[in-house]
Amino acid sequence: MTAKPLKRVLVTGGAGQIAYNLLFRIATGEMLGFDQPLALHILELPEAMKPLEGVRMELEDCAFPLLKEVHIGSDAEELFGDVHYALLVGAKPRGPGMERGDLLKENAKIFIEQGRALNSVADPDVKVLVVGNPCNTNCLITMTNAPRIPRKNFHAMTRLDQNRAVAQLALRAHVEVSSITNMTIWGNHSSTQVPDFVNAKISGKPVLDVIKDHSWLENEFVGTVQKRGAAVIASRGKSSAASAASSAIDAIKSLVTPTPRGEWFSSGVCSDENSYGVQENLIFSFPCRSKGDGHYEIVDNIPWNTFLREKIHASERELLEERSLLEGGVS
Ligand code: NAD
Ligand code: LMR
Repeated sequence: MTAKPLKRVLVTGGAGQIAYNLLFRIATGEMLGFDQPLALHILELPEAMKPLEGVRMELEDCAFPLLKEVHIGSDAEELFGDVHYALLVGAKPRGPGMERGDLLKENAKIFIEQGRALNSVADPDVKVLVVGNPCNTNCLITMTNAPRIPRKNFHAMTRLDQNRAVAQLALRAHVEVSSITNMTIWGNHSSTQVPDFVNAKISGKPVLDVIKDHSWLENEFVGTVQKRGAAVIASRGKSSAASAASSAIDAIKSLVTPTPRGEWFSSGVCSDENSYGVQENLIFSFPCRSKGDGHYEIVDNIPWNTFLREKIHASERELLEERSLLEGGVS
């Protein structure tokens, strides 16, 4: 059988903690399929090239059959050439006590430069997943600086939030995680995000019919998911890494695998005139479906009750504020 053509996968922040949990799993084939030959393009800051060289050596030492090429470097214009998937991880993580928005000014410059580099040299249909925080607004910056690439190709990672929400519901209902479906995260990847227990299901039944303690859902459940990133930082002293890497794999896998009938996944994508009345041109987390061709559509007509509506609008306001900071001169 003829081998599939090579896919080029870019990961930035290659010497960081998420990348260390991500690169090896990509190289096994877990993300794009166990028959998909790969090239890894790994970007780092010039001062981190020595640890990155160590990562490159380890990738070589694994002798992964699918991994045909590894390119490392610190020049985006050089390294982003012809990439089909770009996982933009490299950015400064927040420390204890910080909100993700505090990182906006520090990290915006990175995404301006990387958006421009994608625009100049990446594959014209490159799919971009922004992980570096604040990921929704960083994704907006990247997209704005890459007008050659279709807007629908840009995602901010809210899959970790979806996975966290699924895990919390499964624990509470004493069921397998696979019994939880239709879990939407609406809005920003921040403490205003809205994990939608109203439309999610447990073994095909509405969550509200299975978990009768609605106060737990509205308060503890939502609060735990919204603040999970901070809880991990408080406990580890560093932000989540293995779970973030695992969710990045899930996020891309959801684009290249047909979504099961009736199911959806969450991703931060660009709002347009048809996305639930959310202001246009925000990177906002919505329920999405894919045919497995790398593209997605937003699932429409999911009802919002008053509880969801108020919270989703608060998250929208936060994203508008982040965007207005950019308009105020960060970019
Ligand atoms: P880390 O500090 O361990 O690694 C980040 C790496 O990025 C560093 O090695 C740094 O040198 C590199 N880097 C910085 N600027 C760069 C640039 N311009 N180009 C290339 N590389 C650059 O951080 P981490 O724990 O791997 O986290 C990375 C980012 O992911 C942070 O912003 C963090 O907040 C975010 N994050 C997002 C989610 C999510 O769910 N969206 C989850 C966890 C972490
Ligand atoms: C997370 O959700 O774990 C990450 O976004 C890291 C953070 O700053 O919370």
